[in-house]
Amino acid sequence: MGTRFARSWRWVVPALLGLLLAGCATGRLDATKPIGEDAREIDGLMRLSGWMAVGVGIFVAAAVATIIVKFRAKPTDDPDDLPPQIHGNRKAELTWTLIPTAMLVFLTIYTLPTVFALASEGDGRTIKVEGQQWWWQFSYDLDEDGQYDIVTANDLVIPTGEEVNLEIHSNDVIHSFWIPQLNGKKDAVPGRIHDWRISSDEPGIFYGECVEFCGLSHANMQMRTIVLTPEDFDRWVQEQLAGKTAAQVAPADESPEAAGAALFETHCISCHVVDGAYESAAGGNANLLAGIAPNLTNLMSRTAFAGALYETYQTGPDGEYLRNPDGSLKLNIAELREWVRNAPDMKPARADNQQGMLDFSEVLTDQDLDNLMAYLKTLGSPPVLP
Ligand code: CUA
Repeated sequence: MGTRFARSWRWVVPALLGLLLAGCATGRLDATKPIGEDAREIDGLMRLSGWMAVGVGIFVAAAVATIIVKFRAKPTDDPDDLPPQIHGNRKAELTWTLIPTAMLVFLTIYTLPTVFALASEGDGRTIKVEGQQWWWQFSYDLDEDGQYDIVTANDLVIPTGEEVNLEIHSNDVIHSFWIPQLNGKKDAVPGRIHDWRISSDEPGIFYGECVEFCGLSHANMQMRTIVLTPEDFDRWVQEQLAGKTAAQVAPADESPEAAGAALFETHCISCHVVDGAYESAAGGNANLLAGIAPNLTNLMSRTAFAGALYETYQTGPDGEYLRNPDGSLKLNIAELREWVRNAPDMKPARADNQQGMLDFSEVLTDQDLDNLMAYLKTLGSPPVLP
């Protein structure tokens, strides 16, 4: 019996350990390597409370072990003889009430400044963040006139050295915005605006996930923050604005781009906007469009599509971008084309309920798809990478 028990435990322990360690293998989501002031503040609190918990855990485990060994019944003891009972011992009760209370009061006092700091307004720009089933939209009001000049999806682009303010909304159910290396979690709640901040000391691409269960494709509701130097950020802004103007120019007749634009007008504009070119499909009723599908202006400038589930450009094994011989990024045309053909196949959705893209596999021919790809390629310049 004893050996059989030991034999099975030989497998159970490594299996449980493997399961535990699997939780660390999230790869791109890592809250333990904060980059930026807000994330560092949160990380500091996590470490302090974590180590206090470890201390309490060790103390309790040691006390339990000591008591078990020191006070266990001896063979000579009378089994009916109870040890002295300490129920109602004032000194003991006060001790184990006051010590945890003191620890919690200490943690509260230590935490409050950070709570208020993170809730205060940063010195940087403000960006509107909207959660939708199942992707994120980011809107920039550059001249603060109440009109959004840049509307994008999946990629939140910010400059270094700025405490960027986020106004977090939801257009349907509750989501939660989290870029682990840059800030903490903040819920996106319908009918409310939650203020939050994000900042980064260094350029880079930082990945995030929706962290509030929000339906079928919750696990596929990803986003990333592209942090650029202030110079690169200005370039990105200029390219975004230029892309809007370029989109207004109809592609030349008879070209695949023109055929693609015609198909886009037939099949896509009841849900997707292209600023300047296709924005009045809902007869000026913005509500018809809001929350249904990403604005596709400057589509090519985004590093990801379909709720950041797929890369717009091909990447190598270490996530590095692959390039054509002329140095340009390699478009991930195969997956983009497949997405347009049959999106529900690539990401669970409820298109019948305006949650996700429709299946066009019975509607679009191969030629149509090629033409649509030709048109989509005209939307914006490649991303500005950190
Ligand atoms: Cu959105 Cu989970």
